[in-house]
Amino acid sequence: MKVLGIDIGGSGIKGAPVETKSGELLEERFRLPTPQPSTPDAVAEVVGEVARHFKWHGPVGCGFPAVVRHGVTMTAANVDQGWIGTDAAKLLAKATDCQVVVLNDADAAGIAEMKFGVGERRKGLVLIVTIGTGLGTALFIDGRLVPNMELGHIELRGEDAEVWASDAARQRKELSWEAWAPYFNEYLVTLERLIWPDLIILGGGASKKFDLFSPALTVKAEVLPAEMRNEAGIVGAALAFRKLHGK
Ligand code: BGC
Repeated sequence: MKVLGIDIGGSGIKGAPVETKSGELLEERFRLPTPQPSTPDAVAEVVGEVARHFKWHGPVGCGFPAVVRHGVTMTAANVDQGWIGTDAAKLLAKATDCQVVVLNDADAAGIAEMKFGVGERRKGLVLIVTIGTGLGTALFIDGRLVPNMELGHIELRGEDAEVWASDAARQRKELSWEAWAPYFNEYLVTLERLIWPDLIILGGGASKKFDLFSPALTVKAEVLPAEMRNEAGIVGAALAFRKLHGK
């Protein structure tokens, strides 16, 4: 099945048609900047442009950086507050004139990693943490997603963990990856106290820097960098369409 996968982020909106059987991108990724302010209508317009770029009329799977319950965006940590309570699936279906499934971006990236990446065939409890502007989390039990595990905003030292341990926090504090590592380690140790996963997969842009910060990690779980890098969000969103429609 061919599905247009779209990954909506705080700074960019990326998409590519995906062959869901193999996880391959069928065309080169197309990226447009996320409009600022990132209101629902402005973002929908850009998503429509991405679909038009590929002359797309088929199914669309879309990852979004918020809790998404049955197509409705429930939170808005790094996007315009107007998304709270918006029927994103309906809005984006109208903008693209296609059938659209919307899910949390970390859930989408996790689905791709569990199917075609480092989580392939991994049983037990697997936690994926995506490190970027925000901290995204996705939890899998024997390969099955528990949707909307929103663990990026737990309280850490009296603050939102994301404000303390994300890549955006690292940049704001002007820290090297090595100097940031203890902050992120404290976040992971706190998560481990709560859910004790067998495996933790670290994704997002930071997965490329894994060798620089991983020596500081003290969790007991196995920790691995994600393999799919930039493409996980797109591929996972496409796979989600197939899953949610039972195809
Ligand atoms: C949001 C999550 C999202 C993560 C990564 C967080 O700020 O609350 O829903 O998955 O950022 O984009």
